[in-house]
Amino acid sequence: MPEKDHSCNSNAREATKETLGLSRRNFFSGIAIAAGSLGLTTIASSAEAASKKYKVCATNAIKVGGGSIFKLSAAGGIQILITQPKSGVFRAFNPACTHQGFRLNSISGTNIICPIHRAQFDTTTGNVTRGPAQIPLQKYTLTVENKNLFVTLNS
Ligand code: FES
Repeated sequence: MPEKDHSCNSNAREATKETLGLSRRNFFSGIAIAAGSLGLTTIASSAEAASKKYKVCATNAIKVGGGSIFKLSAAGGIQILITQPKSGVFRAFNPACTHQGFRLNSISGTNIICPIHRAQFDTTTGNVTRGPAQIPLQKYTLTVENKNLFVTLNS
């Protein structure tokens, strides 16, 4: 059962942490979600104008070598997987497996693992480290400000 932590949900722009400790032997529920993109625009200025920054959580909410999935209610409920492969290094990905769209649910070493067909993705780059997936995880722009993590999404 995913653990709830509302410590990162103090205003409408912040995220709900759905799960904790994406780490060895600590699995998320196997909820399938549709793989999809955020809708690319062809004009850079339009994309910039439409992009919004959302606070995800404090940096100390992510364990070194682990990760967590957050639901951004203010962004239509989009889910964001945040990893911290090394101390102070944070990455943000779409947690939908690029094989068939199921939600990734665990980390082993430097790999994020899909529970369905066991594809693996690098926790730093999102690149495929084991098939059957062939496409890297979708990445999001993540910034650190005052010990908080913010993700920028295009609407
Ligand atoms: S859905 Fe993830 S490996 Fe098939």
